[in-house]
Amino acid sequence: MIDHKKIETNATLLLVLSFLVVTVGGIVEIAPLFYLENTIEKVDGMRPYTPLELAGRNIYVREGCYVCHSQMVRPMRDEVERYGHYSLAAESIYDHPFQWGSKRTGPDLARVGGRYSDEWQVQHLVNPRSVVPASIMPRYSHLATTDLKADDIADHLKANAVLGVPYSAEMIDSARADLLAQANTDADAEGLQARYPKAQLRDWDGDPGRLTEMDAIVAYLQMLGTLVDFTSYEPLAEANLR
Ligand code: HEC
Repeated sequence: MIDHKKIETNATLLLVLSFLVVTVGGIVEIAPLFYLENTIEKVDGMRPYTPLELAGRNIYVREGCYVCHSQMVRPMRDEVERYGHYSLAAESIYDHPFQWGSKRTGPDLARVGGRYSDEWQVQHLVNPRSVVPASIMPRYSHLATTDLKADDIADHLKANAVLGVPYSAEMIDSARADLLAQANTDADAEGLQARYPKAQLRDWDGDPGRLTEMDAIVAYLQMLGTLVDFTSYEPLAEANLR
């Protein structure tokens, strides 16, 4: 038996032994990851953000929405009942940086897409208390009156491509046109929909004459969590059992 008193009264010995314990523990945790072929399971339906959604995401990050909202449904019963299917790693594969968040002053937003109408989203962002009287969320009415800066969107796609998001040269070339097409019901959007399956297009902010930051953030909120079809999704581990 090791004499505990000897270890606990000798700072150097305690330090050396603690270091050993942490090292062994660390290796045991990390080493298996080197042998896994893939830690992120591929799922059908995931695609990079459309240029308009990406612009909306940039506004979400700029405004610090992540300070109060997480974007990750944990695999626990209460969460799944409230928000829907737990989040998959693949669902944030194109997020740089990811928006999992660590605080929920407001609800999780990972699956908020389609939960409310566009009108509700706009009204709520302009003045949260007009639809949820007890809300403590700040107003973001300036988004409705600020023109969306679309000229540099191709650069945002390029930056994401450098980080590994599969934006093709064609997607980058047509980024600005795709952005405009997604917020304009009269536009010819065939190319957009071929490049980004399931892209929804309409006037988002209720002001068809003008392209605002509100258009972009509502387009982003309305697609969150909608890409993967969970009626046909089966976890890899379960599929392998058969
Ligand atoms: C100070 C904290 C705070 C910040 C910052 C914040 N929110 Fe909220 N948010 C809340 C709270 C609290 C609620 C719940 C009450 C309500 O619906 O207004 C909420 C609700 C929401 C909802 C409705 C979710 C649901 O499932 O009912 C959406 C969508 C939303 N926020 C979007 C945003 C966006 C987009 C931003 C950034 C532009 C943002 N929030 C910034 C606190 C915040």
